[in-house]
Amino acid sequence: ASLAGRNTLRVEARAELLVDVRDAAALAEVLAFPLLRAAPLLVLGEGSNLLLTGDVAGAVLTLSTRGIRVLAEDADAVILRAEAGESWNDLVHWCLGRGLGGLENLVLIPGTVGAAPIQNIGAYGVELGEFVHRVHAWDRQGGGSVQLSAADCAFAYRDSRFKQQPQRYIVTALELRLVRNAPLRLDYAGIRQELAAMQVETPGAALVAEAVSRLRRRKLPDPAVIGNAGSFFKNPLVDADQAAALKAAYPDLPLWPAAGGGSKLSAAWLIERSGYKGFRAGDAGIAEQHALVLVNHGRASGAQLWALAQTVRAGVAERFGVQLEAEPRVV
Ligand code: EPU
Repeated sequence: ASLAGRNTLRVEARAELLVDVRDAAALAEVLAFPLLRAAPLLVLGEGSNLLLTGDVAGAVLTLSTRGIRVLAEDADAVILRAEAGESWNDLVHWCLGRGLGGLENLVLIPGTVGAAPIQNIGAYGVELGEFVHRVHAWDRQGGGSVQLSAADCAFAYRDSRFKQQPQRYIVTALELRLVRNAPLRLDYAGIRQELAAMQVETPGAALVAEAVSRLRRRKLPDPAVIGNAGSFFKNPLVDADQAAALKAAYPDLPLWPAAGGGSKLSAAWLIERSGYKGFRAGDAGIAEQHALVLVNHGRASGAQLWALAQTVRAGVAERFGVQLEAEPRVV
């Protein structure tokens, strides 16, 4: 099966076998097939955080299970459940449409609900992990369905237990706990500026979602227009000494305090200052708009995109002594 239409970097690649599960109850039976039982499995959502560097050995599994419903609610909070195949952005709007805030800073992030906890999606000062009540998953190791609490998921910056053990879990549904009238999260400076530009004085969750949508549309290339997988590198974490040395040498380097006393640096800034913003090697390129985004201008292969990523990585390491790590799943 061709995976060309199933990854937002629009890379041509093939899988030996593609299995789409539409009913979560059938998952156990499907996974018991000898072809699937022991084989490496690539679970694919919308392919919006994935670089395929070649054909996929083994099977590709997609879950197109649907449904969003409220499981419990009281005066303070609502617990809702969304199935893995739902679109993340649709879920955000489903909540906003019912007056439920919390997820507004995470609007317009591409991908499915099932993929969201894998890399603990985050944007504009908010991460998914803080809303997770439970994750329902199939455990290929134990051979049964399991429920993981937020603590079990080991969420961290663009990281989780699911990302650490990619062959073990298949996320089947997400339960979120949304607090009613939660305070808006406006710490990311751009949001306030955008609200001011919209002439909004008393924002609510829906207006914050609108401001974030405008920011994203302006800053990030649209995968419907040009192939990309969002940020291609994580913002690197460095220790306090290295952060101080870099800041002394480059006073305009953006950095933020990180857990453990170190700092998180802006990968986009490091890449731009290394001269790669807008750079192209054939059809593989770094976006003109945002230095953190790898783009496919047309027919770049996965191997060419990965080679360009390595060039950028080497350039940043040589200039700043900082090692960048890929953010998407590289297969
Ligand atoms: N910057 C540059 N050059 C650029 C772009 C940005 O120097 O080409 C500088 C900006 O001046 C700013 C800093 O980099 O000071 C940060 O830029 P931005 O606010 O765009 O955020 P980011 O750190 O580059 C992260 C996430 C995004 C998320 C935004 C907003 C990661 C790897 N990326 O990007 O997430 O939308 O913050 O919260 O953490 C994604 O994961 O795919 C993604 C798009």
